[in-house]
Formats: sequence, C-alpha cells, structure tokens
Amino acid sequence: MDSKSAGKSLRAESWLRYADDLGLGPFYLHRGVAHHARDEEPVAASAAGAATAAPAIAAAPQPIALSAASRASDADAKAAERPQIPAQQTPAVEKPAVPPAFVAPVSSVSLFEVRVENDSLERIRTDITPNCTRCKLHKARTQIVFGVGNPKAELVFVGEGPGRDEDLQGEPFVGRAGKLLTDMIGAMSLRRQDVYICNVVKCRPPENRLPENDEIAACSPFLLRQLDAIHPKVICCLGACSAKTLLNTTQGISRFRGEWFDFRGAKLIATYHPAYLLRNPAAKAEVWKDLQKVMAVLGLQPAKRSKTS
Ligand code: URA
Repeated sequence: MDSKSAGKSLRAESWLRYADDLGLGPFYLHRGVAHHARDEEPVAASAAGAATAAPAIAAAPQPIALSAASRASDADAKAAERPQIPAQQTPAVEKPAVPPAFVAPVSSVSLFEVRVENDSLERIRTDITPNCTRCKLHKARTQIVFGVGNPKAELVFVGEGPGRDEDLQGEPFVGRAGKLLTDMIGAMSLRRQDVYICNVVKCRPPENRLPENDEIAACSPFLLRQLDAIHPKVICCLGACSAKTLLNTTQGISRFRGEWFDFRGAKLIATYHPAYLLRNPAAKAEVWKDLQKVMAVLGLQPAKRSKTS
C-alpha cells in the first residue's frame, strides 16, 4: 500500500473508532434502515404500488440487479439485463420513484463508504467484545453472538439477530431455525464450517422482537466489516431484516427475493428466513430455487440424498 492509501485507511479507521466511541451510530439511520418487518409482509405487487412505495435509497450502496450470468463489475449492462421483471415492475431498490425517506445526513461520510484496511474477523471481534454497550440490547443479552464459520468462506448467510438458543450458546442459528439452515446448507453439499453465518444484530432482542432501527444502526457497521473482511463471492440474506439493511430499502422481501444484487464486490441474494419456513413449509420450494441460484454461482451440485432421507 502506498503512503497516500495508508493515510486514507488510517483516517477512515480512526473515524470509525471515533464515531463508535462517541456513540454516533444513529447517524447511520439516514442510510435507509427504515422499517423492518418479518418475512410475511404483504406483497404489494401492482405497478402503482411499485411507483409509490417509499424506496429509502440513499447514496450507497446502490444495489444493482444482475442476471445469473453477469459479472459483478458491469453494473449498467446488468441493470439492462434483468430478465425476470417487466420494466414497470422494476423494484424501486434500483430506481427510486420518489425521494428517499431518509435524507438530512448528520455526517457527509457514510459508514457504507468506510472500509478498514487489513481488517480481520479477530480484530472486529475484539472491537465489539466483550462488553459492547452501543445499543440497548446489551441490557438483556447473555452474550454477544459474533458469527461462526470459515473466515474465507465463499458464501455468507446473514440472519436477523440471535434468539434464545443462540444467546445461550453464543453461536448463530443453533435453534430450530438453525437446524433447518444447517439442512439447507447440507442440501447445497456444504457444511456449516464451509460457510460463514452471522446476524445483523449481535445481541438477542428481548422476546425475539424485531431489532429496532437504532440497534441495527449501532450494530450493522460490524456486519459490514465482517463482510468486507471475509470478502465472500455470495452473500445470502436470510429474511427481511438483513435484506433491507444491506440493500438499504424499505421494500418487502417478496418483491426482490431471488434476484441478484451487487454488494461491495460480492453478489447478494435474499431469501426467506428459515424461521418463516418453519411456519410456512410451502415456501421451501421458493427458497430452494434461490439456493440453486447460489449453487450455480459457486459451481456446486446438490447433495445426493441418501435412500433413507
Ligand atoms: N434467527 C436469526 O436471524 N439468527 C439467528 O442466529 C437465529 C435465529
């Protein structure tokens, strides 16, 4: 790294720590972490609905839909290639029809634009643990659930936040939904230790409620750093919370589930949360289609099922 880049990196890094130390997390709200609902939100599919839905897309990141075959670097070509969605139904995540819901940035710098040079999962873990008090979730948590898996994974799954089992065991996705996720990973002919699994918020929301905007704002910089440090080929958002956070949109997940987006050099796809599948097993077919898209990008074949399974 030349001295100019090193200087920039140091500035960015010290800015990040400074913002953290001052508890400035909430300024991050203007990036559009606006509204989170579980996966079963209504599908407002009409063209008129698409035109009037508040997209809350701020400056970055600008997710760009990809065709399955296109490359992450060729954004304009990809936008033109989107085969699945007729023009009038193009989700507002790409082209906001109305001004973003969150404007008035407090800072001209966005955490989405900040990268910590030579970052590592160990360093991020040290920055966040053991006693993070950046948001109110610290009050009721047993422990921080940082993330688990291969630090060089090609595939990262991002969930919402720890539940009771995860809070007790310190590992994401170990409860009932986690067992289903483990099965899904197995069906892709992968093991949990091949991928990386983490959440938007690292502490359990009381009573498993949805994470609130200020909590997401305080915690998601660590998620971004995790994703940057791992640098996966594919990020798979599990459920509305992570999809909306990373895609910076208020749209319902059903509007863009199964589509490809660019995200900081990775391909991002959103699918339904395993907890949703436990309540709605019929949606498993849709999720399997999404996972097959991921497998195609990663060159994976479905696992052979044993005769007894
Ligand atoms: N649900 C999530 O979103 N994350 C977990 O870790 C467990 C359940």
